[in-house]
Amino acid sequence: MYHYDEYDRALVAERVAQFRDQISRRLSGELSEEEFLPLRLQNGLYLQRHAYMLRVAIPYGTLSADQLRALASVARDFDRGYGHFTTRQNIQFNWIELEQVGDILARLAAVDMHAIQTSGNCVRNISTDAFAGVAADELLDPRPLAEILRQWSTVNPEFLYLPRKFKIALCSASEDRAAVMMHDIGLYLYRDGAGEMLFDVMVGGGLGRTPILSQPIRKALPWQHLLSYVEAVLRVYNRHGRRDNKYKARIKILVKALGIEAFAREVEAEWEHIKDGPAELTRAEYERVAASFQPPAYPPQPAVDLAFGSALARDAGFARWVQRNTHAHKQPGYVSVTLSTKPGAAMPPGDVTAAQMEQIAQMAERFGFGEIRIAHEQNLVLPDVAKTDLYALWQQACAFGLATPNIGLLTDVIACPGGDYCALANAKSIPVAQAIQQRFADPELLQDLGEISLNISGCMNACGHHHIGNIGILGVDKNGSEWYQLTIGGAQGKHSALGKVIGPAFSAEDVPEVIAQLAEVYRAQRQGEERFVDTVERIGLAPFKARVYPPQETRA
Ligand code: HEM
Ligand code: SF4
Repeated sequence: MYHYDEYDRALVAERVAQFRDQISRRLSGELSEEEFLPLRLQNGLYLQRHAYMLRVAIPYGTLSADQLRALASVARDFDRGYGHFTTRQNIQFNWIELEQVGDILARLAAVDMHAIQTSGNCVRNISTDAFAGVAADELLDPRPLAEILRQWSTVNPEFLYLPRKFKIALCSASEDRAAVMMHDIGLYLYRDGAGEMLFDVMVGGGLGRTPILSQPIRKALPWQHLLSYVEAVLRVYNRHGRRDNKYKARIKILVKALGIEAFAREVEAEWEHIKDGPAELTRAEYERVAASFQPPAYPPQPAVDLAFGSALARDAGFARWVQRNTHAHKQPGYVSVTLSTKPGAAMPPGDVTAAQMEQIAQMAERFGFGEIRIAHEQNLVLPDVAKTDLYALWQQACAFGLATPNIGLLTDVIACPGGDYCALANAKSIPVAQAIQQRFADPELLQDLGEISLNISGCMNACGHHHIGNIGILGVDKNGSEWYQLTIGGAQGKHSALGKVIGPAFSAEDVPEVIAQLAEVYRAQRQGEERFVDTVERIGLAPFKARVYPPQETRA
């Protein structure tokens, strides 16, 4: 993984000192809350319902074991013993005292981490596939380009005051596991026949109150132009994006208003000025960064592993976990393991305790090369595990509540913090997620339902990405009480789709049973191996609606 150089370290250290000073001026009353607000947002510090929340960046979702230990120590010493991993590969601490933020940031800086640009109207954390560099279906490793984008976008003076926040994701596998199409800029990287790196650029995606999937703006752009092209898009947005109305300020609104062709023309005209300038990437620069992402020296593995085979045959729980929670690796004899943060009612989705973080750090060292990834679905990934180690790893993961075999299944819920923490919420998300997880606790039923994504947001800001869940749940407020509107048919990945509302909202108590009814319709209607989302696509909403809404009496 990438290691900071002295410039990176100096920048982060300076920022810690500067923010410490701003905090002390806020605490002494020298700065008002209004004056402090932009300063704290530039350092990832939000004010929530009960306390401050600190959002820490995990660039393209990659952590070292020591970094995870540092996060564990922050959770233990400054929070209530846990942290919350998010869909954009950040971690949030929900119970932070303002007085302590300087110390927290200093502790993070010691392991090359920070909270810069995790909030505010700037380019946010660059995100990618949790299996980057190791997935069997990967076309090329996106991490060097993600790191180049990170370096370029961090504290880039031209783009620190955009009309609104800006999110960039990239992926380079046959399957898109980075939700590229709901980002402001999405990049699909691949190689041409001659082995040169190219990328297709997508623009104008975003969820929130106006959900829009991105559209292609440029196909097959040579890699040397990564920064200049992204810069051209950002310049057009910076110049023409709306600043008069926060709700219409994202790039998706500009792209929609101009139309993709007109927007693309603006970008191309801007790009003409800069494409052959200093922003053009050189092979030397690419290679300098790529050197940090060389594959580890994988010890060769036996072609046949009898112990692994017999463990699979002997232990059905282990076999189920291997089937659900491991992912095909480039290297023969290895897999990537997903540690589920969704045990059900025991823990809100994405929450991990300090003790679990320390265990995961230790597992990453014992069963890998000391690296951990954060998945878009709020789970943690150990990228490089030899199959021979899986049984031992599984036992350890079971002991720490990290081995729920539900990756990709209905209980692998994505949920925002909702009304339990968030000052913007219309409704709670976590208890609804937990009630659904409880309703579907039966592993047989869960397996039988197969792949279903279920996403919950506590308000229309859509932090839980409810629009792109196969089943989406949105908390709504009706006369001061909490209700839940359901969508079905949403999807992420290369075939992203926005879900459609099935009808009037339900009460929290009814939601688990309504989901169960939707699942029953699917079970009755599916053909062969068809997934839930494909059945919805084939038969439409009507059969689902008919089941969950009692028939209206019709008057003659
Ligand atoms: C509790 C603190 C949080 C606050 C105050 C907050 C606030 C917001 C707001 C206002 C938006 C809408 C932005 C827009 O449309 O311009 C948003 C979007 C989003 N948030 Fe959060 N959020 C919080 C926590 C989270 C968490 C925990 C996650 C991940 C689980 C998350 C992930 C996202 C994502 C992925 C989007 C956006 C989608 C898009 O591009 O439109 N947020 N958030
Ligand atoms: S979706 Fe709404 S309730 Fe949930 S975290 Fe985002 S802003 Fe808060």
